[in-house]
Amino acid sequence: MKKITIAIDGHSSCGKSTMAKNLAEELGYLYVDTGAMYRAVTLYALQNGMMDSESKQIDEARLEKAIGQINIRQEQVNGKVTTFLNGTCVEEEIRQMRVSSCVSPIAALGFVRRQLVAWQQQMGEQGGVVMDGRDIGTTVFPNAELKIFVTASAKVRAQRRLLELQAKGDTSLTLEEVLKNVEERDYIDSHREVSPLVQAKDARLLDNSELTIGQQNEIVLKWAHDAIGQ
Ligand code: DC
Repeated sequence: MKKITIAIDGHSSCGKSTMAKNLAEELGYLYVDTGAMYRAVTLYALQNGMMDSESKQIDEARLEKAIGQINIRQEQVNGKVTTFLNGTCVEEEIRQMRVSSCVSPIAALGFVRRQLVAWQQQMGEQGGVVMDGRDIGTTVFPNAELKIFVTASAKVRAQRRLLELQAKGDTSLTLEEVLKNVEERDYIDSHREVSPLVQAKDARLLDNSELTIGQQNEIVLKWAHDAIGQ
């Protein structure tokens, strides 16, 4: 059967990765979480004193020098896609608020995007891949056979994110704080100069504010089978 490329883009915390993971599993495709790659670079910058988490100042010259040497890998560990930074598992750390609140300025840097886009294109060059992010259908794989743009209201997304953090034992944040972070990231992601978050002209729109994960999976699996059959 033909192995296609599936690009899933959309706003923060709208369930893109759950959708992409489930779809990749159903189809037996490789799943790539590109947000985790930007998060790993952010963690690297924080750990190496190249970014100040308070002022969000970045030492761009040092980061640009180092970027080609950073090793980011994603592997299945106990059935879960897990991110490694220079050989160390960073899956937990890259989801923490310290990284979430610093990742958008890092993802807005042209040299960071150029490097990560190149790595992502290498990972997907054989097809048979489901990749989620912000610029997959517009920049990474403009010729992807299926493009999906996912969204949900900011309030619904903040509620989901809060539940996720609480399930991990983080009860330090209020709904208002999480909502503020979601809205800030939406703004920066959609207004940056390089590859801003926009729906590709040929992407199918899915608003999942009112959908269960099961309903969402059903819709996208049908879209995938339609695209594979063409
Ligand atoms: O999907 P996520 O929340 O893990 O993404 C983290 C950040 O990385 C988010 O602020 C947007 C950015 N990002 C991006 O600019 N391009 C991508 N392809 C993926 C993520």
